Amino acid sequence: MNRLGLGRESELPFLVTEDGARRKTIGGLRTAIARYWRSMPRLLRSILTILLIVAIVFVGSTLTSSSSPIVAPISADLEAQAHINNGNEIMHQKVEAAQEEELREKEGAVVAEPAAAAEEKQQQPNEIKQDGRPVFRGPQNDRQRAVVAGFKHAWAGYKAHAWGHDQLKPISKSFSDWFDTGLTIVDSIDTAIIMGLKEEVDEATVWIRDSLSFEKDRYVNFFEATIRVLGGLLSAFHLTGDTMFRDRAADVGHRLAGAFQGGRPVPLSDVNLRTRAAKSPSWSDESSLSEVTTVQLEFRDLSRITGDKTFEELAFNTSKHIHEIGCAKHGGLCDMYVNAKTGAFKPGTTITFGARADSYYEYLLKQYLQTGKTIEWLLADYSQSMSSMSQLLLRESEPSKFRFVGELIGGDSFSPKMDHLVCFLSGTLVLGKLYAGQPDDHLQIAKDLGATCHEMYKTTTGLAPEIAHFNLDASKADDVIIKPLDSHCLLRPEAIEAWFYLYRGTGDKKYQEWGWAAFEAIDKYARIAGGGYSSVNNVKTTKVQYRDLMESFLLAETFKYLYLLLADDQSELPLDRWIFNTEGHPLPIRTN
Ligand SMILES: *[C@@H]1O[C@H](CO)[C@@H](O)[C@H](O)[C@H]1NC(C)=O
Repeated sequence: MNRLGLGRESELPFLVTEDGARRKTIGGLRTAIARYWRSMPRLLRSILTILLIVAIVFVGSTLTSSSSPIVAPISADLEAQAHINNGNEIMHQKVEAAQEEELREKEGAVVAEPAAAAEEKQQQPNEIKQDGRPVFRGPQNDRQRAVVAGFKHAWAGYKAHAWGHDQLKPISKSFSDWFDTGLTIVDSIDTAIIMGLKEEVDEATVWIRDSLSFEKDRYVNFFEATIRVLGGLLSAFHLTGDTMFRDRAADVGHRLAGAFQGGRPVPLSDVNLRTRAAKSPSWSDESSLSEVTTVQLEFRDLSRITGDKTFEELAFNTSKHIHEIGCAKHGGLCDMYVNAKTGAFKPGTTITFGARADSYYEYLLKQYLQTGKTIEWLLADYSQSMSSMSQLLLRESEPSKFRFVGELIGGDSFSPKMDHLVCFLSGTLVLGKLYAGQPDDHLQIAKDLGATCHEMYKTTTGLAPEIAHFNLDASKADDVIIKPLDSHCLLRPEAIEAWFYLYRGTGDKKYQEWGWAAFEAIDKYARIAGGGYSSVNNVKTTKVQYRDLMESFLLAETFKYLYLLLADDQSELPLDRWIFNTEGHPLPIRTN
């Protein structure tokens, strides 16, 4: 793995003491010496620091008239800091370290800033730092505080009964393992960071640093592990600057890259974390379209932060391949399975914006934005598929004319079925209108879909079902039909995600009201007294039956988007600087 931060060589290192005070020093320290530093007694360190400062002042004053640099190059960067830091201090120190470093960059590095001025800067709300690393100031109002309390309740249940395992089973007070990588921790640490939850962030950081192991002889779903585990670690790195997260991301990234076998452009669906062997599901060689085309944001970001281009190339080759074979039959709308061996689409499958296809479209636009709008065919494919979506799949229900996105069964027979998952499309359309010059009617469709998703929440519990069917018969009374097998609710994020984008795009406070109502329903019907929240079986009855599982995306996405949606001030994580992966993990936008 490449060591980063070499560009910081001309900067001052600084040392962090236990009480959090920072002292700057200069001189020819090398990384090895920095490592020994922490092992010295504190008194000795203090004396040495004072001596150094005196020496610096002396040398500085004798050289003031000279044009030669006062400060010798230093190679101790954030990574060295990571190695000399210890215990719970790490997160606090890293955040401060990053902030301080950036302040120095702004100040021109040499002159030490008065502590008061530095403090004032750190307290400025929502200040966006030079390298894009934001400062989070915590909840601003009672609704946000309630969401934070919800997150803490979920975290407490997970911590009490499932710590280190993938997901909490809140009813049986036990856990389930899927990847066996502490999934809830890695998937939700960035939400805790954004909410300003220092204690939870510290616990998660220590666990990821000391206890997380990817040396697991088990096959994991390549896509799910990429968006949740890799995505979570990448965001934690970007939001804190702690290189431990980058190193963990690179570790799992190398393993996940095993899904790309034998130079073929389409990855296999499952990969073994220890052996890096890959396989398809036992029944076929088919990979889901959405799965193989929804790893590119993460692999590109991993390439950017490690300097190893291979990740991006492997993943982007899949996008290029899909672009080249194209989906002309339905004007850019694609079949839902791609054969990993032949690279061909399985013809005649259902055309949908729901499961197995959804985030292919999302990542066309998001990759275009992530790369600074430099790869035009991504936008062209997105644009074309959106216009085909509105021609082929966008319909109105009866009698209330709710616009929804249905499916083409077998590629030709329209079905008025819409997964809750499809609500993501509303948010993506807002993003395309705001930041990629897409036409005005995209915003209108987004608003209409966002409102339809809200209709899906008008149930007895105020929770939305997994799937809704829409009535096309003008003689019938109900627009939305919830079938028994579709009536469960996993506390998914997509509608809240859509309202978040719509609120950013329009400023219309009804979106905050809708989000708040959804949170109240979650807190009323899905909250479990002993800690955590549970998916429910049937949104149509207040005699709730629980499914005894708290999905990691409740913390990673649902609570994160709620928190962001309900902020008074929407300047945190601006959408022209950050792109959220399909699991709600923010990654920086860059031009490359
Ligand atoms: C990506 O595809 C190109 C063209 O087919 C190929 O030359 C290259 O080796 C592939 N990259 C990786 C990392 O597999």
